[in-house]
Order: sequence, then structure tokens, then C-alpha cells
Amino acid sequence: MARSGQHGGNVLQMAARAGLDPALVLDFSANINPLGMPARLRAAIPAQLDRLERYPDIDYQQLYTALARHTGCGTEQILAGNGATELIFALTRHLKPRRALLPVPGFAEYRRALQREGCAIINFLLLESEDFQLTPRLLDALTPDLDCLFLCTPNNPTGQQPASDLLLQILERCQQLGIQLIVDESFIDFLPDNRGLQPVLDRYDCLYLLRSLTKFYAIPGLRLGYLLAGDRARLARIKEQQEPWTINALAALAGETVLEDRRYQANTHAWLAREQAYLLAALGALTGIKIWPPAANYLFLRCLDPALPLQERLLEQGILIRHCANYPGLGPDFYRVAIRSHEDNRRLVAALTRIVGHG
Ligand SMILES: Cc1ncc(COP(=O)(O)O)c(C=O)c1O
Repeated sequence: MARSGQHGGNVLQMAARAGLDPALVLDFSANINPLGMPARLRAAIPAQLDRLERYPDIDYQQLYTALARHTGCGTEQILAGNGATELIFALTRHLKPRRALLPVPGFAEYRRALQREGCAIINFLLLESEDFQLTPRLLDALTPDLDCLFLCTPNNPTGQQPASDLLLQILERCQQLGIQLIVDESFIDFLPDNRGLQPVLDRYDCLYLLRSLTKFYAIPGLRLGYLLAGDRARLARIKEQQEPWTINALAALAGETVLEDRRYQANTHAWLAREQAYLLAALGALTGIKIWPPAANYLFLRCLDPALPLQERLLEQGILIRHCANYPGLGPDFYRVAIRSHEDNRRLVAALTRIVGHG
């Protein structure tokens, strides 16, 4: 399958397919902070272009210092990478799991990384009747024959965040059973005051946390993510295996520049609180779709008329949303939409109102 079908953000291909100028398409299919990159980074990049004429520090000392300060972890618990994606593959390559449990629907790259290692994959179906939430049902599915579990909190594409006491029970069970637990917290920064599982990281050597800067700080083209691990010795071995210089000099600069930008973080949380509430109310009033309240900056929905090609119809109006038909575990009537600026969100609501109406 072409890569372009597996993720959102394929404006070029989708616009070409619909005969539209890509510059005129509003992209609701990739979950990127609409505030754009922090102003201090936008200024730092041209000011530090000279960095491109040297190799980055092979140990990325300044970047690691910034990540340690931001996370409260020691640098020996951190591995920075070219987006969280590099780290999904690096970690899976190192752990070489034989039998993994994957909640579905979920982010596609865990499966690809596991398949590359020849790992058997057991799907754990998230249920619409449980609002696609993790429930204690998962605890029963954790059996001693497994050696790996990927979770995504909040989950992509469903936007659901599990209860923290359930997460701790899952973690405890994984530790007891020798299951490596990889929790993808790529969207956790969008949840104010939520540090994910980082506060308990030291107590569990089976626990790995994946983080991304590309969504929250709007730098998917620059690429930066990091992995936190409870097991320092193992992390050192993964670090040894990492290819040199996978983080370009400007991405390293981004990590050194944005993590302590409190004003940008507060502005993002304020925007998101406003727009989550707006979209929940406005889209919730439409009778032709069902929506699930989002924990992060994207919203999961179902079109109640399965014969209606919602993505195509919106594209005719210059709006691109993510069709979720190619997620294992979902039918063709599910979609994900990013939360954007108020003006853009109003355009989405107006277009959806025209298409799925008020019943
Ligand atoms: C859940 C999840 N994890 C990881 C990634 C990859 O992030 P990055 O851009 O840091 O590689 C994505 C990208 O869409 C994602 O949705």
C-alpha cells in the first residue's frame, strides 16, 4: 500500500485527486497545532542557519539538557530521535518482541515496526459500545504469552484518554508478567497539567514513554521526538545502536528553544479549551454524525449514513479530513478531524451542516 494512505496530511495527493489547488485546501487531516511554531523558534532558525554548515554535536548535549530539564528525567533515561517515529522503530528493533498486543484502532506505525521484526500481533478491539475507551477488559487480555503492549494516550485516532488508575493497573500487570509496555504520549502535551506516566517511570523497568514535539510545537517538517525509559541500562544499549546525527541541527535547536516556552504552552491550552468546547457543541448538534469528546487536538466521528462519502463531499468544499477506513477495527464510516483555528473550525461546521444537516 502507498505510504500516503496510512496517515493524514496528504494534501498534495488528495487535492490532485479532487482537481483542486492544494494551496486552497484546508487540512483537517493532520493534527498540528494551528498556532504554528513558537515565535522564538521562527526567529532562532534564520539567526542560526550557520548550524547547517557544521555537524550537530554527536551527543546533542544541549538538547539532552533541555529535555532533562523539561521532563525531570536524567539524561540517561532519554533518547532523542528524528520524530517519535524513529524511536518506535528503534525500540521495536531492540526489544524484538515475539508476541505483541495492539489495541485497534491505533496508530499504524506500531504494527509496521512489529511486523518488520516478524512479531506475532494480537489485536485488542476497542469497542464503540465502550466509547472506544480502554476498560479493565484489557487487564484480562494481558496473558503471560505476551511480551509487548503498545498503548497510545490519548489514543490516535479516537482521541480517548484512559483513566490514570486503569493505566497504573495495566502497568503493574505488565511488570508482573514481563510484558514491555510502550506508551505513546505524543499528544499528552495538549492535556494541561498531565505528565503522563513520567512520574512513575523510575519504578518500572518495563515502561517506555514515547513523546513527540511535532504536533504540539507545529514542527512536523523539522522532526523531533524522544523516548523515556525506566530501564537505564537498556536505554544505553538502544542509544549505542542509534545511527549518528539522526536529528538535524535545526531540529536540535527547536528542542533547545521551545520546551520552556510557557506563554506558547498556555496559549495553546487556552485555544484548545475554547475550540474543543465550540466543536463539541456545534458538531454535537448535527444529527447526521456521532462525535466522541476529544482529550486532545482532534476529534473522532462517525457518519451515521454509511453510504455518504463524507471525505469526498467535504473535499468538494475545499476541506480535507482523515478517513479512518484503513484502520484495522473500523468501518468506512469513521473519520478524524483536527481542531484548528476558530475561523477554520467554523468553516468545517458550516460545511458539515450543509452535508449532514440538522435532520
Ligand atoms: C500517536 C502518534 N505517535 C507518533 C507519531 C509520530 O510522530 P512524529 O512526527 O514525532 O514522528 C504520530 C504522528 O502522527 C502519532 O499520531
